[in-house]
Amino acid sequence: MSLLKRAEQSLASCFEGAVGKAAPPRLVEAMRHAVFSGGARIRPQLTLSVAIACGDDQPQLSDAAASALELMHCASLVHDDMPAFDDADIRRGRPTVHKAFGEPLALLTGDALIVMAYQVLLNAGHAAPDRLLALMQNMTSGVGLPDGIVAGQAWECEPRADLGRYQRAKTGALFVASTCAGALASGREAQPWYALGACLGEAYQVADDIRDVMGLSADLGKPTGQDCLHTRPSAASELGLGGALDYFQDLIQKAVDSVPACTCRGMLQHLVRNESERLVPSAAYSAYRMPGVQPAAALSA
Ligand code: IPE
Ligand code: IPE
Ligand code: MG
Ligand code: MG
Repeated sequence: MSLLKRAEQSLASCFEGAVGKAAPPRLVEAMRHAVFSGGARIRPQLTLSVAIACGDDQPQLSDAAASALELMHCASLVHDDMPAFDDADIRRGRPTVHKAFGEPLALLTGDALIVMAYQVLLNAGHAAPDRLLALMQNMTSGVGLPDGIVAGQAWECEPRADLGRYQRAKTGALFVASTCAGALASGREAQPWYALGACLGEAYQVADDIRDVMGLSADLGKPTGQDCLHTRPSAASELGLGGALDYFQDLIQKAVDSVPACTCRGMLQHLVRNESERLVPSAAYSAYRMPGVQPAAALSA
C-alpha cells in the first residue's frame, strides 16, 4: 500500500473512532469538510515513512500519530482562513469552513479537531503507554509555545518578526513533530530525525511564499497574493523571488542530506525530491530567469 493510501485510510478510521455517534451533526459535517478535502497529506506521509525506517513495530500507533498530526494541520488551516487571520474564501479548491458553515462553527471545528488529535493518540496509546507520553509531548511542541504553530501565527500580531523564526514556528515545527513522531511511535530516539523535519518544513513555507507570488489560485486551490495583501513576512518579499528560489533549493538539499543512514534512506530522499518538484517545478527556475516567460505558467507546468 502506498504511503498516501495508508495515511488516508488511517485518518478516516481514526476520525470515525473519535467522533462518536451523538455529536452535533453540523459540527461533524464541518469537521469532515475540513479534513476530507484533498490535502497533500505530506505530514502523515512523513510520519509513516520515518516509522517504517525505524521498524514500525506498532503500526497502529504510527497510524494514530500520523493522523493526529494531520488533524492538527487541518485545524490550523480552518483557523488560519478565518476573517480574524487571513480571511480566505477558498481552501483546497472548496469554500473555507467559515464560508460554508459560518464563523461560530469554523471556530469550533478548529477547536474540536485539536482535541480530536489528542483523543486519537490516547485511543491508540493504551497498547504502548511508555511511547504515548513522548508522542503527546512531541505533538504539543509542534503546535504550542514557544515555537509551534500558535506561536508562529502570533508573530503576525507583533510589530516585528524574524522571518526564519516565524516560518519555522508556523510551519516547520509541525514537520519536525511529524518526522520525530515516526521514530517515537516505533520506540526510537527522535533526535536523528529532527533536521529532516526542520529543513523540509522551512522549505515548505518558503515554497508557499513563492507560490503565493508566482502561482495561480486555480492551481493552488486557495487565494494568491495574500502575503502582500496582509503585509506578512514572506521569503519572496524579504529575499526577492530569485533569492527565495535559491533558499528553497538550499533547504531541500539540506533535507536530502539530513536523512540518517538506514535501509529507507533512498525512499525518504525520493519523497523529499518529489515534494520539491511538486511545490516548485524545475521549469519555474528557468522560467524565472528567462525574460518574457510567464512564471505562473511555469509553476503550474
Ligand atoms: C498549507 O499546507 C499551509 C502551509 C503550511 C504552507 P499544505 O500545502 O500542506 O496544505 P494541504 O494540506 O496540502 O492542503
Ligand atoms: C500557514 O501559513 C501556516 C498555518 C499555520 C496555517 P499561510 O497563511 O501562509 O498558509 P496558506 O497560504 O494560507 O495555506
Ligand atoms: Mg496565515
Ligand atoms: Mg493563510
